[in-house]
Amino acid sequence: MEKELSLEFLRVVEQAAIAAARTMGLGDRHRSDEVCVEAMRKTMDDVQMDGLVVIGEGERDEAPMLYIGERVGAAVRRPGEKYPAVDIAVDPLEGTNLCAMGEPNAISVLAASERGGLLHAPDVYMEKIVVPPPCKGAVDLDAPAADNLKAIARRLERDVEDLVIIVLDRPRHEKLISDIRATGARIKLIRDGDLSAGIAAAVRGTAVHAVMGTGGAPEGVLTAAALRCLNGQILGRLVLNKPEHQERAAKMGIKDSKRVYDTEDLAPGKKIVFAATGVTEGDLLRGVRFFGEGIRTHSMILTLEEHQVRFIDTVHLERRPDISVRFV
Ligand code: FBP
Repeated sequence: MEKELSLEFLRVVEQAAIAAARTMGLGDRHRSDEVCVEAMRKTMDDVQMDGLVVIGEGERDEAPMLYIGERVGAAVRRPGEKYPAVDIAVDPLEGTNLCAMGEPNAISVLAASERGGLLHAPDVYMEKIVVPPPCKGAVDLDAPAADNLKAIARRLERDVEDLVIIVLDRPRHEKLISDIRATGARIKLIRDGDLSAGIAAAVRGTAVHAVMGTGGAPEGVLTAAALRCLNGQILGRLVLNKPEHQERAAKMGIKDSKRVYDTEDLAPGKKIVFAATGVTEGDLLRGVRFFGEGIRTHSMILTLEEHQVRFIDTVHLERRPDISVRFV
């Protein structure tokens, strides 16, 4: 599945990112999301799979496309033919506000696995901590921030003051932020996008050492899919503090509402493909660039079984005989 479908998934996230990038800075987050979802959904039709959306744009009645439970891929149009059964998790535009305001780190994301390889998480919040490969097993979701930071610093062979921790800039993180500040660690507060932050934390050289705080649970599953391939770790616990959230989680088969999920619990698949394309300029991926004769995109594709991390720079040329490609 990984080998056959990686490049097809690349095309899906590239097309979604291009559509979103056309709306960059227009200040209309709904339009950005809409065109992006539409492009992703359309490109998905040609992928040679029997796909099932397990993390998507929401429930069927509120999301016209890419809703949870939707069948996608070529099998929909050719039901008689045999295609690999694939579970799909998407966040067509991670950072809708970032794209709408032309801010960094908006990305288009898709993860896939064999059936059952990605947790069916309800669209609620999740408490999270994300750390790079050397820090696996060193952190505890219930430990004070200071203890986790000490453990991370020890594994990364540096002082706590040398760490950079990403936290979503939200009032709910007031205490977390002051606890981190009290240790001397540095903080990068972000307006949105804890998924791209989580991926950055798992890659050396991004100057991000951990992500802490509460964000979306679907983003947590997608982060886990990427981190399985990058050897990092995410610990997460669903925030089910409203009866309707508990009901929704129970419907999705979640029995223990206080469970701390590890990376393998969130993305248990044996085969995983994770694909992302930058929409706006980012820490890890460049944004979409339009240059008259074509479009240039920057993507990453991660595969678990194949152990490959690919960064892909694609030039999408216009269909004209006089187009030339420049080496940069
Ligand atoms: P969208 O792109 O779907 O708007 O999500 C952006 C995001 O910042 C995620 O990265 C994060 O997990 C979540 O929203 C946080 O939710 P909230 O904005 O409600 O704090």
